[in-house]
Amino acid sequence: MTEPALLQDVSPGFAADIRAGLTHSPQKELPSKYLYDEVGSALFEVITALPEYGVTRSEERLLTRHATDIVAQLSRDVTVAELGSGSGRKTRRILEALCKKRPTSYCPIEISRTALQLCRRELGDIERISIVGYERDYLAGLAEVSEKRPDGEQLLVLFLGSTIGNFARLAATRFLRDIRMMLKPGDALLLGTDLDKPVPTLIAAYDDPIGVTAAFNLNLLARVNRELGGDFPLDAFAHVARFNPEARSIEMHLRAKRRVSAHVRAAKLTVTLEEGETIWTESSHKYRAEEVDAIADDAGFACLRQWVERDWGFAESLLVAR
Ligand code: AVI
Repeated sequence: MTEPALLQDVSPGFAADIRAGLTHSPQKELPSKYLYDEVGSALFEVITALPEYGVTRSEERLLTRHATDIVAQLSRDVTVAELGSGSGRKTRRILEALCKKRPTSYCPIEISRTALQLCRRELGDIERISIVGYERDYLAGLAEVSEKRPDGEQLLVLFLGSTIGNFARLAATRFLRDIRMMLKPGDALLLGTDLDKPVPTLIAAYDDPIGVTAAFNLNLLARVNRELGGDFPLDAFAHVARFNPEARSIEMHLRAKRRVSAHVRAAKLTVTLEEGETIWTESSHKYRAEEVDAIADDAGFACLRQWVERDWGFAESLLVAR
């Protein structure tokens, strides 16, 4: 029998990662990067508008208030590289402040072509901006942007939205170190981090009452069904958000409501979950504002300035490569 086109086209990396994650013992897991297909990215956009999820609005308030001040810390002509193009709304503040001073190149780096197109549509109207999208993974894209920037220009890397929180703590420092390797001394990194807050606030933010985050999480299994020929019965899984006090992270899991067996054709895998067993799909680590200094230092940056929004609890830190 011929396989449907979708299965033939599937990235072998996706199937291999799903196989590795679902055979991981004792905790089954799925990498959170697979949450963001077209459906997942649309659901994440809705999450950012939920009253319970204050992360995005808090960062927008910070950037609206302080964009001019942030940009004033940069001494030379600047090329901007953004890791993940997001919706472009937050980035607009920084880019407008820069373009007011001089024409500026903006290079969003993103593996999704659709996201890059949306970003161009969202930000293309800014006067004196030139947008060059890089359809690459973060580090490959950053290496290219860094190399291609005109002589003497400072690179400003934007890593917003507290995406750093989705890395385990050690991996976060390692990733900042990898970023540092792509930069020259004096280049800058604007890093957004969501701050510690009371557990009930976090639980509400990651398990909202109308179920958008639950749908976002369940879509990961739906995606495995769609793209890898899986047969997970979605109604057998419940979304769970739980706080991990040691890691200071909020974890998302998918909990089997009963014993479930599923087959994933493209991964050549049959998996069984006992009732109550979970698949860990994401961790979102929370930071203390002061912690960023130490991580930055470990990764070869100095923290030049920090802006903190206290209503929700979010920090924007401007790090400079030593
Ligand atoms: C993208 N990232 C920073 C979000 C977060 O808060 O960790 C992803 C998310 N997961 C559930 N809600 C939002």
